[in-house]
Amino acid sequence: MQLFHTLRELRAFLATHRDQRVGFVPTMGNLHAGHCQLVTLAKNHADLVVVSIFVNPLQFGANEDFGSYPRTLQSDCEKLQAVGADVVFAPPVEEMYPDFDGQSLHQEMVIQPPPLADDLCGASRLGHFAGVATVVAKLFHMVQPQVAVFGKKDYQQLMVIRALVRQLNFDIEIIAGETARESSGLAMSSRNGYLTVAEKTQAAQLNQQLQSIKQALLSGRRDYATLREQACLMLSQQGWQVDYVEIRRQQSLTLPDAQTSDWVIVAAARLGKTRLIDNCEVSA
Ligand code: PAF
Repeated sequence: MQLFHTLRELRAFLATHRDQRVGFVPTMGNLHAGHCQLVTLAKNHADLVVVSIFVNPLQFGANEDFGSYPRTLQSDCEKLQAVGADVVFAPPVEEMYPDFDGQSLHQEMVIQPPPLADDLCGASRLGHFAGVATVVAKLFHMVQPQVAVFGKKDYQQLMVIRALVRQLNFDIEIIAGETARESSGLAMSSRNGYLTVAEKTQAAQLNQQLQSIKQALLSGRRDYATLREQACLMLSQQGWQVDYVEIRRQQSLTLPDAQTSDWVIVAAARLGKTRLIDNCEVSA
């Protein structure tokens, strides 16, 4: 497995492998079994798999965890080697943002995503999806993959990336990987590392609420507002600070009506200091 920190090295390597189908898995590192699953999925669709590890400052708000986000390059590389990644690209900030002055990214060109990026997580994390879209577009230019894999855990992100590829005409197939879960049902996330032992046990409650709504939808209920309000209330009573629990149409993330038969239940809530997200697709 090759590890590159500069675009020059990455490009020189990829130039000698242009006859191969390149798969790409972008990450921010601190890898867990869910990321490894995405790499395995990429390997099934490509000859050569590139994984990027870059904690992207542009997608973090001023009061978010950019500074404390775990940087674990060595153990990440060991995991990626074990799962058969071919290339790790771990650039410093200056490599990704050439006009970064060491203080702010205001000089940088930013992609403005469509309105689907403005609600749910986009409503409480202003500018987050512009940061994601920008860094992913840059990485796509750098790696030039034929296929890229994104996890469904970040469901809204996946929809933004699909829009990015469609609207900016990237010739890249996007493959969605299923969410990896702990045996409790808790979705695996790099941010689970912020949870205390007790919180990690309690964190399974988020998925339990999604499962309750799923059962209600499958049993024929369409009183969406009541279902989401009940879930919010239950989580609040259990000590969560709920950002949102919403029932939306799959793909568009727009509001469903009584005829809708493909939903995604999406949720974001804070347990202690940790903000967690999860979702659950349901088809009747
Ligand atoms: O999902 C993530 O880890 C990040 O948002 C991504 C796609 C690597 C962009 O920084």
